[in-house]
Amino acid sequence: MREAGRIAAEALHRVGEMVRPGVSTLDLDREAEKVIRSRGATCEFRGYHGYPANICTSVNEVVVHGIPSADRILKEGDIVGIDIGARYRGFVGDNARTFPVGEVPPEARRLLRATEESLMEAIDTVSPGVHLWKVSETVENRARRDRFGVVREYAGHGIGTRMHEEPQVPNYVDRGSRHGRLTLEPGFVICIEPMLNAGGDEVEVLDDGWTVVTKDRSLSAHFEHMVAVLADGCEVLTTYP
Ligand code: MF3
Ligand code: CO
Repeated sequence: MREAGRIAAEALHRVGEMVRPGVSTLDLDREAEKVIRSRGATCEFRGYHGYPANICTSVNEVVVHGIPSADRILKEGDIVGIDIGARYRGFVGDNARTFPVGEVPPEARRLLRATEESLMEAIDTVSPGVHLWKVSETVENRARRDRFGVVREYAGHGIGTRMHEEPQVPNYVDRGSRHGRLTLEPGFVICIEPMLNAGGDEVEVLDDGWTVVTKDRSLSAHFEHMVAVLADGCEVLTTYP
């Protein structure tokens, strides 16, 4: 799983370096595929419930699951969420990050910072015996501090031989739920993936059946890491030096 995570992280790093005005989201998709295949891995998203591309590229008001396209040319001031999954020797690595395209407005910078910090603060809580709701609460508290919306319809997840395994890892607190009362144990591997909106919490899915956008069309950001619970803390598996 460490190797799968590292490949997904390397692809995200390399694709992230390509982000600039004039690049199409399909260019990003092609580069991700190249990196993943060069490592002997496969793109996990293609064909997942019929998903038609190798990665997800979510521009501005797109929250997640944006489909790469030659017609979607990045321009100065955009933000683009890139989500990449790789399968290596039977295990899946999954990670995401939202990048600024050139100079972006202060509001976009604040949103990116809050979303990344909510992920990093949540990772800091991961340790054996910790309730899952603590992870969720940490994301939500960081988001609300800046009055950003928190997407509720999509969540983080366990990961292993399948991309989506138990438990679900919501980005808001639901103390009554069975998942929330679960405690983390050594050997669990979870993806934590906050999705924060500059406006309200609500999202909708476009007619293509995939593209998730904010209902108020405000900006949205998404960061994701894959984290293994160890006996004495945790290890982020989607790192690339
Ligand atoms: N990587 C996403 C997640 O973290 C899922 C991608 S959906 C797919 O849950 F259809 F593109 F695979
Ligand atoms: Co994920």
